[in-house]
Amino acid sequence: MTARVPLARPVVGEREEQLVVETLRSGQLSLGPRLVEFERAFARRLGVEHTSAVSSGTAGLHLAIRAAGIEPGDEVVTTPFSFVASANCLLYEGARPVFCDIDPRTLNITPEAAADAVTDRTTGLLPVHIFGYPADIAGFEELASDRALWLVEDACEALGALYADGSLVGARGNLAVFGFYPNKQLTTGEGGMVVSPGADLKERIDSERNQGRAPDMGWLDHDRLGFNYRLDDLSCALGLAQLERLEELLAGRTRVASQYSEALAGIEGLGLPCPDADGERRGWFVYVVQLPDGVDRDDTIRALREQGVDSKPYLPAIHLFSFYRERYGHREGEFPVCEEVARRSLALPFHPQLTEGEVERVVTALRAAIGR
Ligand SMILES: Cc1ncc(COP(=O)(O)O)c(C=O)c1O
Repeated sequence: MTARVPLARPVVGEREEQLVVETLRSGQLSLGPRLVEFERAFARRLGVEHTSAVSSGTAGLHLAIRAAGIEPGDEVVTTPFSFVASANCLLYEGARPVFCDIDPRTLNITPEAAADAVTDRTTGLLPVHIFGYPADIAGFEELASDRALWLVEDACEALGALYADGSLVGARGNLAVFGFYPNKQLTTGEGGMVVSPGADLKERIDSERNQGRAPDMGWLDHDRLGFNYRLDDLSCALGLAQLERLEELLAGRTRVASQYSEALAGIEGLGLPCPDADGERRGWFVYVVQLPDGVDRDDTIRALREQGVDSKPYLPAIHLFSFYRERYGHREGEFPVCEEVARRSLALPFHPQLTEGEVERVVTALRAAIGR
């Protein structure tokens, strides 16, 4: 029997094992030297100064919006087409996510759509670089500055992406958050990284990830509310090994994406991820297609599974989750582009070591499943 083609698979090898085992044997499993090494190496890779490793992307978003100054009752403009964490983190602080519809090409929200959603209760903007495609960050910065709003970038899916000006996503001087779940460009198992524009914000984030303790680890005083969002040293060791080979990992993803795009081009009605525009570069995270009109997604998933190919509806619209509907009265039809994309989207197997043969297998199975 031929092996199943999984949706995602982390690439870990001898170097990862070596650093993790060394750390395990060192006896320093948390708040040890690997934490600072990982933060510094990540900062160097991005060309930034202040980074804080945290226990997940969600934890990073939570600390970032707190550092940005969120208050209960605030409205924050964000996207309904994202992993639910980018909206959930606002609820942790008693704020309200205000969604606007997405651009059908990039699947990101635009500064124009966000501007229309700003009210006098809006205090912040939380754009997401969805599927690794950079949002128009210069436009968001302008909107933030015109309307005196804070800006936090959810870059959890976008390591390695470039903005239109050619700079690396996360390195433009805004609070930005990366995620390191095993399907991401770089993994620590669970984990994340917050990039801060200044030492004061980093100090606050470092303290709040550690129960509000002083940065010098003074035991006696906790001068603010904090959480346990620490990233342990084993995870940091894994992250360090992944950083050493990040270029190879990113190049592998780019290769697989080009193979898919070439093999799937010309299939009638099938929507592919948009090509990079204007100096922008996607940091490839997933390969998501939009099924042609009239093709049943559940049937397609079933047919692919019978051929040993995993796939997944990706992503569902956040505002249509029952929790969001019930709490905020959201309903179908509010964000038609997002809803249409969410209805048709299908993630195909994607990781840096997917072979050309596996890509061909997926493409053949998909063609058969959708009858084209
Ligand atoms: C866009 C986006 N935001 C936030 C997160 C949350 O990250 P984590 O799962 O590490 O908490 C993820 C990833 O899972 C994500 O894709």
